[in-house]
Amino acid sequence: MNLLSVTAEIFPLVKTGGLADVAGSLPKVLKSHGIRTRTLIPGYASVIEALEAATPVARYDYLFGEEATLLAGRAAGLELFVLDAPGFFYRSGGPYTDEHGVDYPDNWKRFAAFSLVASQIAGGLVQHWRPDIIHAHDWHAALSLVYAKYAEDVPIPRVLTVHNIAFQGQFPAHLFSELGLPDEAYSIDGVEYYGDLGYLKGGLQAADAITVVSPTYAREIMTPTFGMGLEGVVNARHQDVVGIVNGIDVDVWDPSIDPYIEYSYSARTPLRRLPNREALLELFGLPHTRGPVFASINRLTWQKGMDLLAAVVDEIVAMDGRLIVHGNGDADIEYAFLDAARRFPHHVAMRLGYEEQIAHKIHAGADAMLVPSRFEPCGLTQLYALRYGCVPIVARTGGLSETIIDANVAALQAQAATGVQFSPVDTEGLRHALRRALKLFRHRRVWESLQRQGMKTDSSWRHSAAKYAELYGDLTATDMRLAG
Ligand code: ADP
Ligand code: GLC
Repeated sequence: MNLLSVTAEIFPLVKTGGLADVAGSLPKVLKSHGIRTRTLIPGYASVIEALEAATPVARYDYLFGEEATLLAGRAAGLELFVLDAPGFFYRSGGPYTDEHGVDYPDNWKRFAAFSLVASQIAGGLVQHWRPDIIHAHDWHAALSLVYAKYAEDVPIPRVLTVHNIAFQGQFPAHLFSELGLPDEAYSIDGVEYYGDLGYLKGGLQAADAITVVSPTYAREIMTPTFGMGLEGVVNARHQDVVGIVNGIDVDVWDPSIDPYIEYSYSARTPLRRLPNREALLELFGLPHTRGPVFASINRLTWQKGMDLLAAVVDEIVAMDGRLIVHGNGDADIEYAFLDAARRFPHHVAMRLGYEEQIAHKIHAGADAMLVPSRFEPCGLTQLYALRYGCVPIVARTGGLSETIIDANVAALQAQAATGVQFSPVDTEGLRHALRRALKLFRHRRVWESLQRQGMKTDSSWRHSAAKYAELYGDLTATDMRLAG
């Protein structure tokens, strides 16, 4: 089976978050189910530079006003189609924002062009390679399903994955006439969204199946609290919605072979982990401590609850713990951590930025990983933490609530616990979680059992890739029945 995956990010070529990790790691595992994935990705500078043996497969003189070439090639072991449209994608900022973090004003056009090309590949644009399924990720790619639905010659099933329903691709209605869609697409069944254009909304309506990155989040987005305005649409489509929890790339995240960490270790040799803790404290300029070393590697945003964490640093200082924060995001949250690091230089360290290598070192050295998200579709950081023996302390929401087993009395007795969950997700809830973690941490045997259980947890793609394969199989079988 041939699968066309359509995504705006893919690890290791371009990444702003977990979407890239998923798009980069799932194809490898699908291979063992006989599914051959080719991924369409925009031709950002980092992608074009990494591309090997690129061949042009289609040319556009005027794609939404820009010249473009569709390239087929490989990079980092991934089979790719790359939309080389320099006017749209070869820019100095990030995939969606300029160097000041401001959304590009033509994002509606960039991702419409990208999606249109995806639908054409689905319709057989490329000689010798026809997909059996088109699978679009998030709003940037969602319009490809809308184009495919309204084009008469794209007869393959359409899958949409929702990684985060808060990002919807909402644009003014007057742009509709520029999209080249038939008039009927501006309707409740199409891209019309509260009088605007909704790319994700359109994708939710056009998809034959909708996958959501955890079963809990799939249920949550049917409610007004989490649905962000799209709960009605998700409810209306509930029979076609399925939650499939994300897996991780267990080769990229493996403390026994990780090139970024100084001292390798595994579940069988947990003591070898200890020198990484000292190396981490040294790297961040923090003194040794017998207290817990907490860390958070995160987008510094309201979603991630990082303002809550900034508000409780005194709790960590009081227990002579350490707090290491790595990330960037909202200016006021960045400032709050920089300020905390200035006030408590022996307890708090903050490294602004986004560095893959630092993330690995933190997972290998910290005692506990804090993930205080107000909502979290799946979350990958807590899964990496499990695998690295860094105990996750997570908000009880979305994928966090189903991937971490809380250290309650019963779970501890059964030696099943892998971390700490807390609720409500506010400063008091978080303070309480920190105190619980401290108690567990002081109880060496209990803490080691949490680490061991975490490291034994199978967070690989094994189960979830099988679910995607089954879904693709069902959809193509239904399609063939309908055609026959
Ligand atoms: P989201 O996609 O919502 O940001 P996830 O937990 O799914 O959340 O994925 C976040 C990914 O980004 C993980 O791979 C995490 O390690 C990585 N990440 C987040 N912040 C940083 C950072 N400052 N430096 C390096 N990696 C980061
Ligand atoms: C989104 C979500 C995150 C999820 C990731 C990959 O960025 O915020 O929870 O893990 O996508 O699916």
